Amino acid sequence: MRRHAIPTGQARSFDALEPALDYLHGLAAMPVIKASGLAAGKGVILPSTMAEAEDALRAMLTERQFGDAGDTVLLEERLVGPELSVLAFCDGKTLRVLPAAQDHKRLLDDDKGPNTGGMGAYAPAPLMTPALQAQVERKVLYPALRGMAAEGMPYVGVLYAGIMLTPAGLRVLEFNCRLGDPETQVILPLLESDLVEVLHACVTQRLEDVALQWRPASAVTVVMAAGGYPGPYAGGAPIRGLAAAEALGCTVFHAGTALENGEVVTAGGRVLSVTGIAPTLPEAIARAYAGIGEIHFEGAHHRTDIARRAAQPGT
Ligand code: GLY
Repeated sequence: MRRHAIPTGQARSFDALEPALDYLHGLAAMPVIKASGLAAGKGVILPSTMAEAEDALRAMLTERQFGDAGDTVLLEERLVGPELSVLAFCDGKTLRVLPAAQDHKRLLDDDKGPNTGGMGAYAPAPLMTPALQAQVERKVLYPALRGMAAEGMPYVGVLYAGIMLTPAGLRVLEFNCRLGDPETQVILPLLESDLVEVLHACVTQRLEDVALQWRPASAVTVVMAAGGYPGPYAGGAPIRGLAAAEALGCTVFHAGTALENGEVVTAGGRVLSVTGIAPTLPEAIARAYAGIGEIHFEGAHHRTDIARRAAQPGT
């Protein structure tokens, strides 16, 4: 991002504890601490105190609680503001932006509790305006696409920019080279165009000729997690009510489930997500939660406020 002047937070990376602690002690405000490797959505710590920040660095760099993922640690400026996930199909030189989604990363209602891989999402996010999308394309997505092409690595696939709208302007928190989870569960159901044709246009560098068609609707997905997640959790709990949720017009996306003797049981932290689609966001929320209400398993946990703030600003 620095090489291509893409707006992002100030950050330094460390692979040893002492220099990381020295840098931490010189900061004016608490940073975000990130394990550089993949940590199943659990490698981002938001410390409130110096002691918590020191503990996180020790856990990653000396106790190796995150394994290899914590060998390099990023201390990043802590930005505040609403987040948007902006994804684009890319063919190496042209891109097509998907409806913006908003993920809910904290475990509990009102964005409390630990970070997770994502507890629910909705799309399109009303925060995204045509003017903001033009800015994201101009300042973030095209500089990334052109930068990678200029560096001899043209990018073909889905580029995912995690963006924060800070008082100082938009900032990129992360790029992923994939669709997002749970964003995919609300974005792709809105796609009217044939996904295979879009992907084929990407790999044959013909995206310029493609105009994507989207359903004029809103989608909401709510994740049901196993009790204990994102910490240790048990598996093997029978899941009831899947057909009843589908009968309400919801789509149930399985993630941490397994078939045992013909019965669907829990087999992961984020067990499944239930997507509701409707003409308006409040109706999509109601549909997704009606589906959630039908599904039961021991220890199940879900947030009750997915998309609420977008549907009722000020709450
Ligand atoms: N929802 C966040 C991600 O997929 O990275």
